[in-house]
Amino acid sequence: ISPPIQQRRHASKQHFVADLSQCLFDFVIQLLPTPEEMAVKEDVRKLLERLIRTIEPDSRLLSFGSTANGFSLRNSDMDLCCLIDSQERLAATDLVTMLGDLLERETKFHVKPLPHARIPIVKLSLDPSPGLPLGIACDIGFENRLALENTRLLMCYAMVDPTRVRTMVLFLKVWSKRRKINSPYKGTLSSYGYVLLVIYFLVHVKNPPVLPNLQQMPPLRPITKEDTHLNGYNTWFFDDIELLRQRWHSENTETVAELLIDFFRYYSRDFSYNTGVASIRAGLLKKDFKGWQNDLSASRYNDARERNRLCIEDPFETDYNVSRCVTKDGLYTIRGEFMRASRVLAARPERAIIALAELCE
Ligand code: GTP
Ligand code: MG
Repeated sequence: ISPPIQQRRHASKQHFVADLSQCLFDFVIQLLPTPEEMAVKEDVRKLLERLIRTIEPDSRLLSFGSTANGFSLRNSDMDLCCLIDSQERLAATDLVTMLGDLLERETKFHVKPLPHARIPIVKLSLDPSPGLPLGIACDIGFENRLALENTRLLMCYAMVDPTRVRTMVLFLKVWSKRRKINSPYKGTLSSYGYVLLVIYFLVHVKNPPVLPNLQQMPPLRPITKEDTHLNGYNTWFFDDIELLRQRWHSENTETVAELLIDFFRYYSRDFSYNTGVASIRAGLLKKDFKGWQNDLSASRYNDARERNRLCIEDPFETDYNVSRCVTKDGLYTIRGEFMRASRVLAARPERAIIALAELCE
């Protein structure tokens, strides 16, 4: 290729990438929840908390998941967790049943208590109304302190580099929903799983990294096991974000579009799905090392194999594969979508908005 053609190609690539970054920001911004929606959700939380306190006076109802970690899209569901601060408390099963009855009597919510689920929860929903055109869906769980902590970890990652991290995560959430590869019940990956893939990529794949590893930074003062362990898991991470912003600057200057293009390339081609485990805590691990093999020859491992097609280690519950629901077909579809996205972006149409529309078709 002659130098002028090379130059022209380079210029056209630079132009596409700059245009794509701008389109990504604009696209994501219009999908954020409105202040009204956030206010209604907070009112709902307060109302539910007041009602729960008539059963358990020492309880608090806290938000976790996307409503609390900064990765919320318009009309995303509400994840609520009830913590009870007294020693004598009702069993979760009884609480779920009693709370279900109470909410049925006192509110307009459709109520579905699931007292015998693996994690007992109450599911609530509210029909659309003029003030809430899409209604509300909400799950209330109990004592899920690890989920509150992993929510806080993701929120801190979002705060280290708000523009690039939030834009990437929010875009991937919309994209995975539109492409129908965001449902653990159907063998694909949860939103939580996609967020972990993004953070893994920004901490461990990009060189120089876009994000520091908050779980491996030296603590500011000595910490004891009592301070840091929850249900036997180490939940410590560096959470003084103000200080971190003063002390840590990423050498990585790539734009959000460049990062997204590389993200799709990495997960369509380079990630070692057969042997690798993505761990935001420890980097790339081996399935063997975790005991998460997918050995094709051993039939008694059939179940393990189906559960461990894709391996993403939970940041705190390190014996837990967040993507255990992803089936063989599910993974095939997800990788196919990563490849499709790579292809669409590599074609660099005249205007980036066209690529974006095609991506989310
Ligand atoms: P949307 O609901 O799609 O907006 O996304 P979200 O960010 O709320 O994610 P999701 O509903 O998948 O998960 C909500 C929260 O539940 C996460 O932030 C985690 O705290 C917790 N969670 C979800 N899935 C898992 C899981 O497999 N393991 C653990 N430990 N926690 C999970
Ligand atoms: Mg959620």
